[in-house]
Amino acid sequence: MQLRSLVNPAVDPGNVAVPSGDAASFHAALPGYRATPVRELEAVAGELGLAAVTVKDESDRLGLPAFKVLGASWAVERALRERPAAHTLIAASAGNHGRAVARVASWRGLRCRVFLPARSGERRRGAIAGEGAAITVVDGDYEEAVAQARAAATEPGRLEIADVGASDPAHWVIDGYQTLFAEAAAQGSHDLILVPVGVGSLGAAAARFAAATARAGTSAATGAQARVIGVEPATAACLTASLAAGRPTRIPTPGTTMAGLDCAEVSSAAWPSLRDGIHGTITVTDAEAGEAMRELAGAGLAIGECGAAPLAALRALAGDPACETLRRAVALHSSSRVLLIATEGLTA
Ligand SMILES: Cc1ncc(COP(=O)(O)O)c(C=O)c1O
Repeated sequence: MQLRSLVNPAVDPGNVAVPSGDAASFHAALPGYRATPVRELEAVAGELGLAAVTVKDESDRLGLPAFKVLGASWAVERALRERPAAHTLIAASAGNHGRAVARVASWRGLRCRVFLPARSGERRRGAIAGEGAAITVVDGDYEEAVAQARAAATEPGRLEIADVGASDPAHWVIDGYQTLFAEAAAQGSHDLILVPVGVGSLGAAAARFAAATARAGTSAATGAQARVIGVEPATAACLTASLAAGRPTRIPTPGTTMAGLDCAEVSSAAWPSLRDGIHGTITVTDAEAGEAMRELAGAGLAIGECGAAPLAALRALAGDPACETLRRAVALHSSSRVLLIATEGLTA
């Protein structure tokens, strides 16, 4: 049976890699860059008896409806510094990463091909094609799309921009996401961060950020370590399975409406930071994510399923007896200041 929550038995933030801040100045110089807003959910904080609940709203990030362009743009920049003659970018994606790579290719006058899983939605496919990329829908799941992208990228002049695996771009994508957390730190103090997890690159960036602020003594007003909880679909909880097993563990993925989180395996580049820096995980159902979406819409925030999942997880953390051990482990109480990473707008 799927675990509702897990306390990471191996958490050891002192071991987490120091984040690279190099991407922030690159992003700041991009046309149209601005920090995404944070919004207070005062009613939720009041209802759950918390000091603050804040949403980092990624529904308009550099003109795209998800945070992923932060990682894609920085990974492409770093990759082109090493291979400036490349003419085509290759990516595999459940939707948002592919669209981000396609947009970056068009900014830079490069060609782009994106490999999508069979169950990717028509609108996501259309959005990527609309960026000018060629799309290939594979006869298989996300992991099959990753494998085909890797094979296609071996031709000369092609550059694979993967957000999963052990390649340099998979590491640079994590570095690129650091900009989101640097912005959030400038926008307020938080002692608990809930972040959606697919392959875990964003979660790794959160873990690095939290560990670094704790080392610098600049986290919440209490000076306490900011804690990070990974949020996964109940039907695609590869991080939960991996933390429970103590090593990356592949799981079956029967499907979820949280398309960007529908991943069978954590990224190798992300795993060490996840293992050492994530305090625990919560799994949420599609129905709970849908309910959280509607709640955010009611608060004036147009957020998609993946982005709404952290609110569903916070409600579980605060009220579900199956989350009690984790609730105590992360010390959720009346002075807690919670940051929810709403990673996408209405993308599907
Ligand atoms: C909207 C959205 N949120 C969260 C994630 C999860 O990010 P990661 O795969 O780095 O864990 C994704 C990944 O594609 C996504 O598209």
